[in-house]
Amino acid sequence: MDLNFYHKICDDFEEFLIRSRPKIEGFHPYFENAFWEMLLSGGKRFRPKLLLAVVCANAPSLAKNAFLPALALECLHTYSLIHDDLPAMDNADLRRGHRTLHNLYDETGAILVGDALNTYAFYLLSIARLDDGVKIKLIKELSHNGGIGGMIIGQAMDCYFENKTLELDKLKIIHLNKTAKLIASSLTMGAMISNQPKNFEYQLYEFGLKLGLYFQIRDDIIDVTHSKSQAGKNTSVDGNKNSYVNLLGLQGAKENAQDLSNQIVEHMQEFDEVLRSNLKHLLSEYLL
Ligand code: IPE
Ligand code: IPE
Ligand code: MG
Ligand code: MG
Ligand code: MG
Repeated sequence: MDLNFYHKICDDFEEFLIRSRPKIEGFHPYFENAFWEMLLSGGKRFRPKLLLAVVCANAPSLAKNAFLPALALECLHTYSLIHDDLPAMDNADLRRGHRTLHNLYDETGAILVGDALNTYAFYLLSIARLDDGVKIKLIKELSHNGGIGGMIIGQAMDCYFENKTLELDKLKIIHLNKTAKLIASSLTMGAMISNQPKNFEYQLYEFGLKLGLYFQIRDDIIDVTHSKSQAGKNTSVDGNKNSYVNLLGLQGAKENAQDLSNQIVEHMQEFDEVLRSNLKHLLSEYLL
C-alpha cells in the first residue's frame, strides 16, 4: 500500500512536470519551447524521486505540496546538464537521447536557458504551498549544495583539472561536490518539507553523500561501458578527465562501486520501514 502510494506520487509528479512549462513573455522565436525542452526530453528524475521518497514516508499528506520543490531540483539539475554539455565544458551533442540545446539552437540560447532554469528553481521554491520558514530552509539547502557549496565548485574543479592527474582523495572531493551534494540535499529537502528533526536531516545527508558518490562512479563506468545510444548521451568522452575509471582502471572502479553499493544497502537499515521500502524500490535499478 505505502509503496503503491509512492509509485503513484512519482507518476503524478511526471505528469505535473509535463504540464508545468511556464508562459514566457516577449517575441523570442524559440526560447519558450527551448526553456522546457530538456526537461521534457526524459531523464531518470532521480533527485525529485529521492525527495518524494522521504516526504511520502514521513508526511504523505504533504506529497503534492512537495511537487514544486521536487520540480525545482529537476530544473536546477537540468540547467547543470545543459551547461555541462556546452563547448566550454564537456562539449557534448547528445543528452537524454536528444540533441543538446546548443547543438539544436545556438550556444547563446543554451547558456540563457540554463541561467533561466537556475533562477526559476528558486522562484518555484518561493511559490510552494509550504510554511515560509520551511521555504527559507529549502532555498538555503538548494542554493548552497547546487551552488558554490557543491555542484558549481565541483564542476569548476572537474573542468580545471582536465589533463592533470589528481590523487584519488582529490577526485573524491570533486565527485562529492559536483554530484553527491545535490543528491544528498534532495533527501534533506524531503526531511525539511516533512518537518523532521535536524538529526534525521544529518542522517539523510550522510547517506546521500555516499549514494551520490556511488552515482558518479557509476556514471564514470557508464562512460566506458555504454554506447552513446544506450546512454542517451555522449560516452567515451572522459579520457582527459579525472574519473574513477581513469585513476583505478575499470575493474578498480567497479570494485569501488560494489563496496559503496554494499555500504548503501547497509546504511538503509537505519531507516524506518516505509522509507527503506521507498528507497529500496527507487535504488533497485541502480545498486549492484
Ligand atoms: C547525469 O545525471 C549527471 C551526473 C551527475 C552523473 P543523471 O544521470 O541523473 O541524468 P538524468 O537526469 O537521468 O538525465
Ligand atoms: C556532470 O558530470 C555532473 C554535473 C554536475 C552535471 P558528468 O560530466 O560526468 O555528467 P555526464 O556524464 O555528462 O552526464
Ligand atoms: Mg562534466
Ligand atoms: Mg558531462
Ligand atoms: Mg559522466
